[in-house]
This record gives sequence, structure tokens and C-alpha cells, in this order.
Amino acid sequence: MPAPSLDVLASLAKRRGFVFGGSEIYGGIQGFWDYGPLGVELRNNIKSAWWRSMVRLRDDIDGLDAAIIMNPRVWEASGHVAGFSDPMVDCRNCKHRFRESDLKGPPSEIACPDCGQRGTLTEARQFNLMFKTHVGPVEEDASLAYLRPETAQGIFVNFANVATSMRRKLPFGIAQIGKSFRNEITPGNFIFRLREFEAMEMEYFVPPADEDRWFAYWVEERLRWWTDEIGINRERLRLRPHDADELSHYSRQTTDIEYEFPMGWSELEGVADRTNFDLTAHGAASGKNLTVFDETDGEHVVPYVIEPAMGVDRAALTVLVDGYDEEEVAGEKRVVLRIRPSLAPVKVAVLPLLRNRPELVDIARRLTTDLKQEVAAMYDDTASIGKLYRRQDEIGTPFCVTVDVESLTDGAATIRERDSMTQERVSIPAISERIAELVAGRSAWAGKAAASSAE
Ligand code: GAP
Repeated sequence: MPAPSLDVLASLAKRRGFVFGGSEIYGGIQGFWDYGPLGVELRNNIKSAWWRSMVRLRDDIDGLDAAIIMNPRVWEASGHVAGFSDPMVDCRNCKHRFRESDLKGPPSEIACPDCGQRGTLTEARQFNLMFKTHVGPVEEDASLAYLRPETAQGIFVNFANVATSMRRKLPFGIAQIGKSFRNEITPGNFIFRLREFEAMEMEYFVPPADEDRWFAYWVEERLRWWTDEIGINRERLRLRPHDADELSHYSRQTTDIEYEFPMGWSELEGVADRTNFDLTAHGAASGKNLTVFDETDGEHVVPYVIEPAMGVDRAALTVLVDGYDEEEVAGEKRVVLRIRPSLAPVKVAVLPLLRNRPELVDIARRLTTDLKQEVAAMYDDTASIGKLYRRQDEIGTPFCVTVDVESLTDGAATIRERDSMTQERVSIPAISERIAELVAGRSAWAGKAAASSAE
């Protein structure tokens, strides 16, 4: 099916506890969202998948968790104080503010897209995207600090610490997941563009001569991750090299991995070749030696850096858009989130067929407790079985276990798989292990169409 609209997704996300508007009871605050019980699980699963492939399974990448607030000199040296800005245009009439790149012509020639008045738009002015704050009790310039707009600088300032403590030689990488803040002029498109978001960035330090080779490697490797490990549809992904005039101030070449979102093709992840820009700048500004020995050249060099960088929130949006499906089952609409079991917030839901039979409820509750030792499991008996299945389908739960009257005599229960709606009858003591192996992908599903369907 075509991608669902963002309104459809936002409504599902709210109804089912994935994403709520930030400070909603006070009318909200633009660009900030809160993640509900299922959203926090989805985000954690995405972060674990990234950390696993970036850090845990690799010999050449270490993790880091640097502070959000850094010495303000970091942002002067990195070029963010001078250059991390968007050109913005104001309307003198309605006071609306626009990104110049969102306008359909020069400000002096077009009408305000909001109030429709002509001749009211100002010339473009640079607007720095960094949030400011103050450290300590006195609000004066000396205590000015910034909320980080990228996590990468925490990696650069710790480059020598990690290289020394982990006895690293080139090439090697440092990965970090953490909150980032940007005072975006036009936040929007649900959780696509936020003012507070979580970044997952990895800086890969290479000998200067190997820059192009590693850039090509990381573009391919990141695309592979999205398809093979996250399960995103390849047809909805594409690579887009940046034109020279859109490169960030630190980049020599950047390729975006774009996804076909409901509002069109947009950046999902960027792979940037940051050259030795940052380490050179920090070396000069701090007076510290940020070189390492390059065995290929036999001399000390400032390494070059290849950076795959993505946002957790945009990844979550992609997983929701890509997994969303609607179909007709027994004359009714079924909404199903076809996402990988590894990403699903709930892996298995245990449902007693009859909630007024204490013996069934008892078995189902005990089974849930067992399953919780293995995977994220929940118990639900708040509706009829058909409604319970629909609810789990909509949140992407890959397996449901139904305890029925026969369970009392045969000691077995039915596992039902989300996508095919087929079933396996499994003895109750073996269910936890069966679910664990199915969720981990260690074993194939062997379901059969149900004899009598509760669908
Ligand atoms: N350190 C490199 C860097 O910050 P970027 O292209 O500005 O590069 C990297 O951001 C990724 O972070 C983007 O591809 C996107 O996934 C995510 N991202 C950036 N700005 C965002 C925002 N305002 N809201 C949500 N995600 C954002």
C-alpha cells in the first residue's frame, strides 16, 4: 500500500501510546514530543540495533557518552557559533518566520505564504540554531553555554582520551547516542524535524590517504543496515550526494540516505566526509596535540573523519511509516504494523480466550510471567479475542498466545503470528523457549491456517 499520511500515523501513535504532543495539557510546544510506553520501547530497540552493529559486533569502534553541555569554546572552534545557521525571512505584517529555502522565490518579489501580503517579507538574515543557556547562577556572558546541536563534538574533544585509553591505531571509530538540540525555524512533519532529538553518530578516524575509500564503505554499510538489519523497504530508500552549495561548513562530501516519507523524499541519515576540519580546529584552539601515528605514512597526522549520523526519532518515524499496512480481513479493515520482531515494543501478548474462567486466566498470567524472563511480554483480557488481536496487530506485536478451554486438557496453547495470522499449537512449558527463538530469528515459523478463526 502507499505510505500512510502523517496524520494517520500521528493518530495511531497517540491512541496506542507511542508518541504524545509535548506539554499537551498546556497546549503543546512546537518541535517537542513525548514518547509513551510503546514509543520508548521502540526507540530503545532502534538504539540497541545501532549500538549492536556499530559497537558491540565491531573490533574497531568504541562507545562514548559525553556531556550535553560543553565548554563554549568548543562551539567557537568547531565553527558552529559562526556557521551553524539557517537564512531566515520574517513577515513584517503577520510576524511569521520562514526558512529562506522554503520560500518559492526571492523575498522581495513574493507574497507572504502565510498572510498573503506583498512587500512585507524582510531580506534573509542568518539565524543561529543553537539553544543558549547559562551555567551557574549569574546570567552574564561569562557563563553563556550552548545545548549541543550535534553529539560529534563530544567525540572530537575526547579523541585523544579514547585513542590513548583504548590503545587505538588508525582506522578506528567512536560512537555516541545522545540528545541534541536545534532551534529549528520550521519544526514539523510530526517527529521528522524536532527541536529536541536524539542523535546516533559515529566518527571514523582514518589515514588521510584513505578518506575516499572509507567514505564509500560507510555509505554502503549504512544502506545495508537499513535494509538488512532494520528491514526497511529498499525501494523507499535512495542515496543522494549533496551539491557543493548545500554542504555543511565542515564537509568535503556528504551523501544522504533518503527515505520516501509521506511528504516526499527526505534525509534519513547523512554520511559526511569531515576531513580533518574538526580535529585541526580543536588542536589549534586548545593547544593540545590531536595527532596520531599513521603507520601507512610513518608519520604523525591529524586523521580524517568519516561520519555516519542519524536521528533516533526520524528512524522511529521511518519504521512506523514503512511497517504500516492496511488490509481487509473477514470484511473488516485490519491495520497491521509489519515491523521486525527485534523492533516491536511488545514481542508477545498472552490472551485468555475467556476472561471469566479463572483457570484460564491463571494459566495465562503464569505464562506471561515466564515469558517476561525472555522477552517483552504483556497480558491482556480487556476485550474479545478479535479486538485483542487487532490491538496487537496495530502496535506490531509479532506473536500472540491464546489460552483456551482445550489448554486445560491438552496442556498446550496457540501461538498466532501477526503477518500471516497462521497458528502453531505448542505445549505450554515449551512456549517461552519457542517465542524466544522466533523473536531472535533462530527458528522459522511453521504456522498453519486456523481451523476456526477468531479473526
Ligand atoms: N553531526 C552531523 C549532523 O549533525 P545532520 O545532517 O545535521 O548532521 C544528522 O544530522 C541526522 O540527524 C539527520 O540525518 C537526521 O536523521 C537527524 N536530525 C537532524 N536534525 C534533526 C531534527 N531537527 N529533528 C530530528 N532529527 C534530526
